Amino acid sequence: MTPPAGSPARTRRGKAGGARPAPSPPIGSVPLAGSTKAHPALGVGLWALGRWSPEDEARTKATIGRAYEIGFRWFDTAEVYGNGRSERLLGEVLRRAAGGASDSFVATKVSWEHLRPAQVRASLISSLERLGRHAVDLYLVHAPDPHVPIDETMATLEGLWKEGKIGAIGVSNFSVEELEAATKGLREARIAVNQVRYNLFDRDEAEPILGYCRDHQILIEAYTPLARGLLHGRHLDGKRIPAEVRRFAHRLFEPDRLPTVLERARELRSLADEAKVPLASIALHWLERQGAAPVIGMSRPEQADSNLAAWAVRPSDRVLDRADAIARGDRA
Ligand SMILES: NC(=O)c1ccc[n+]([C@@H]2O[C@H](COP(=O)([O-])OP(=O)(O)OC[C@H]3O[C@@H](n4cnc5c(N)ncnc54)[C@H](OP(=O)(O)O)[C@@H]3O)[C@@H](O)[C@H]2O)c1
Repeated sequence: MTPPAGSPARTRRGKAGGARPAPSPPIGSVPLAGSTKAHPALGVGLWALGRWSPEDEARTKATIGRAYEIGFRWFDTAEVYGNGRSERLLGEVLRRAAGGASDSFVATKVSWEHLRPAQVRASLISSLERLGRHAVDLYLVHAPDPHVPIDETMATLEGLWKEGKIGAIGVSNFSVEELEAATKGLREARIAVNQVRYNLFDRDEAEPILGYCRDHQILIEAYTPLARGLLHGRHLDGKRIPAEVRRFAHRLFEPDRLPTVLERARELRSLADEAKVPLASIALHWLERQGAAPVIGMSRPEQADSNLAAWAVRPSDRVLDRADAIARGDRA
């Protein structure tokens, strides 16, 4: 198992005698149709920034800074996260990073409440101001709004794409029917990404769109890839899971499902121990094998190190097959 970047085992002495970090393992990239910029294979999600108190902001900045320092380049935010606070903090940290972080891949989202053409434009302009950038690499429709014709939203996005304010257009939480309707609003541009909830335990949203996305070269970005930390081994000690974690985890933590999910998570942890890999390696590389790019929520600098270390270890296909079966509840 690769020790985390920055840990004593991975630091070496520089010429001046001071310790300097060993190069981090590369994250790699995945194809992004119609874009000249590479889409990193693993990302940092900044949703949680919005829920933190001002005292946590220093830790948040340190997390983004550390993630960038060790090689993360894809940062996922949204205008709705903390009412713009997440975008503002991200912009601040990246501007101060070495070289202005010009090699970062910044994605943000227009809220489902702002999908009328004039609102989309105004939202993007405000996001760019908060981020301190002239353009974003990827702009996603956060979720569909059944009251707004999606083709009008998409036509506006295409206009912004032609102006160079958006590198690629994406959507989030879209079904196949919604993807088809959205595509009708585009002439020259294309939908490059659909970001959906996807992890070993929670496949309901992703499975129905896998074939369509593959056939239309739409990259699936997997959010909640660690099942809110469960697939990193969190919350398996029998203690009460904090309401904060339960509230935003869809149905995994509801009383009718939780005992089964915990039992299977413990089985997965045993599988990881047997295979001598981190549990998170299994969770992340199972998604990678499904053709999805995971975006992980991180709230502490050391989480960036440990998630990158997990990514650096690829479990065998046999282990991933077994994990797939355990998570599905297949006893065979
Ligand atoms: N498009 C959408 O509608 C949508 C919806 C939800 C999320 N997202 C995006 O997806 C991102 C990730 O989703 P998520 O935050 O729901 O779920 P997640 O990535 O499955 O879980 C994130 C949580 O897991 C814990 N964690 C992460 N790394 C860890 C580590 N190395 N060791 C121990 N614990 C670790 C942290 O908990 P603590 O903070 O408690 O330490 C973190 O907040 C979000 O930040 C957001 O960018 C998008």
